[in-house]
Amino acid sequence: MRIDIVSLFPEMFDGPLGHSIIKRACDAGLLSIGVVNPRDFAEGKHRIVDDTPFGGGSGMVMKPDPLFLAVESLTGEPAGRRRVILLCPGGNRLDQAKVRELAGYDHLVLVCGHYEGVDERVKEHLVDEAVSIGDYVLTGGELPAMVVTDAVARLIPGVLGAADAAEHDSFAAGLLEYPQYTRPREFRGWEVPEILVSGDHAKIARWRRKESLRRTLAVRPDLLDKIELEGLDAVLLRE
Ligand code: ADE
Repeated sequence: MRIDIVSLFPEMFDGPLGHSIIKRACDAGLLSIGVVNPRDFAEGKHRIVDDTPFGGGSGMVMKPDPLFLAVESLTGEPAGRRRVILLCPGGNRLDQAKVRELAGYDHLVLVCGHYEGVDERVKEHLVDEAVSIGDYVLTGGELPAMVVTDAVARLIPGVLGAADAAEHDSFAAGLLEYPQYTRPREFRGWEVPEILVSGDHAKIARWRRKESLRRTLAVRPDLLDKIELEGLDAVLLRE
């Protein structure tokens, strides 16, 4: 997969995506990430990328022309299914289903919004979709673009090892994850639940499902409305 990021602050991407799993995915040729700066496509000596809003009001609006040219410079390569996404607080909310959908494309172009917003013609005629990473406002779309990149990259086949495969994730089954423990078995007086050291795999699986259900019910009951519970789940929830 190819991910191109359109950002006025390309240097923000130097560090965060150059480590660990994402770096390995790039080194293995499973993912390639590029960053282009719309300022390089802006006209005039000052390469202006923003301007005051028509109709008045405070703040600046990102001009359409540098963004169109920046995105159009990317749309030749690679061939395949492409999706152009604007990161802004007013977009469709990112969730794991959306991440799975985006992971199905060959090429993502992530356009980072800034200032008071972007000229509406960018939303109407340049991008396929606007995406928000949550109901809060950040200073720009750079961190959201990194979030999308990270979440999508780990779903690319081969990026995660078999042991930590994405199927086991929180949200993969629509539930929050069950509690995990590792050595030492006792830490500062707090013991690992006995069942996890029992060696009884059926009982462990049942306990984990119950804990996932309980946690989801306590923290994110809205998620339970979206999935079909198994027959045993009602029993587990009552235990
Ligand atoms: N830009 C500013 N805030 C944002 C958010 N919550 N999601 C996506 N892009 C943004």
